[in-house]
Amino acid sequence: MLAATEREARRRPDGSFHVERFQGAATDRGEAMGFDVVLHRQGRSVRVEPGQAIIEALEEAGVTVPSSCREGICGTCETDVLAGVPDHRDTLLSDAERAANTCMFVCVSRSLTERLVLDL
Ligand code: FES
Repeated sequence: MLAATEREARRRPDGSFHVERFQGAATDRGEAMGFDVVLHRQGRSVRVEPGQAIIEALEEAGVTVPSSCREGICGTCETDVLAGVPDHRDTLLSDAERAANTCMFVCVSRSLTERLVLDL
């Protein structure tokens, strides 16, 4: 029912409809492709392995990003994107925000490009 409502809401002005979920959207984290996340302010990069969340790879590298739900529904881990194309898997961004690719939620989203530059 939520999916049908969201489809119908796409005909309305962007931002006029909001869904609050209490469980993240189903995601497939078993992708075969890993990628590099460049931490722009720190001047280094972190490898994200297939099936690994960006936030997990960051934590293994000693980088803490505030988080809460870790399902892409609360917005706590929002991170600015400087370059690259995120694979948005959250349930927060509008279609226009997804297309802009200026921020992402690193607990669930991944990368469509081999390299993603974040404002970290
Ligand atoms: S921790 Fe809630 S959206 Fe990432």
